[in-house]
Amino acid sequence: MELEDHVGDIIAKARKGLGINTNQAANAAELNLTNYSRLEEDGDLEPETNLSNLGKLLGLTSNKLSLIASGWRPDVDLLIYENIQQISTNEGMEVHCYLVWDEESLDAALFDTGWRPEPILKIVTKYNLHLKHLFITHTHHDHIAALTPIRKKFPNIELHSSSPNAPERQRNSAQKIIKVGNLNISSRETPGHADDGATYIIDNLKCPTPKMAIVGDAIFAGSMGGAHNHYELAREKVQSEILSLPKETILCPGHGPITTVGEQQLVNPFF
Ligand SMILES: [Fe+2]
Repeated sequence: MELEDHVGDIIAKARKGLGINTNQAANAAELNLTNYSRLEEDGDLEPETNLSNLGKLLGLTSNKLSLIASGWRPDVDLLIYENIQQISTNEGMEVHCYLVWDEESLDAALFDTGWRPEPILKIVTKYNLHLKHLFITHTHHDHIAALTPIRKKFPNIELHSSSPNAPERQRNSAQKIIKVGNLNISSRETPGHADDGATYIIDNLKCPTPKMAIVGDAIFAGSMGGAHNHYELAREKVQSEILSLPKETILCPGHGPITTVGEQQLVNPFF
């Protein structure tokens, strides 16, 4: 799977987040404005680009930018876990939701809905799952477009979100641990990309990796979700709430490939 963001997208997100104009950025990169704009647009890094200067201006680590530009990809996949499924739907923009279940009880939890309910229902039926919980990472439309049909199909499903508009009983809190069979699910507040951004930690998965985090658009493999209005907050929250997890924790984003905390510490230019 392609990374969600090329190096030009990363640079543009940082520049806009910091309110720096393209002239300033082009000067730092020692590129003319046309070539600089092409870099943001296509991610094609001209050899003469002064990446270290540009990185300094934008608060991005330049050797990590080089790693992304030279084709870094995550070295982890979910295929070894039958009880964790990444479900991708595309309506002009691809988004992932995740279905996770306890193999003994077959109790299941869904994280976001994506655009359409059918691929979710297919897996629920195939494995005879009891879908009991729906956790929302944030209420941007692509992540919750199939909320109504899913609730219609599973009227007793328990909703969890950090939306201030949600009824009190559905709202996440730091102390709450939701049991899904033998799995324990807790939440952390990760606003920035969205005001109601939440990350869910799934614990007690069978080895090799007992811990997994469903991060929504807070962080992507090699990048992060756009956060023009709350850029510093978004970075702080990813650092304190996600990258503080054990290195082997698998990160499941709403867009692009999955990765791990350890990989992101090594390659993500924002951190
Ligand atoms: Fe989003």
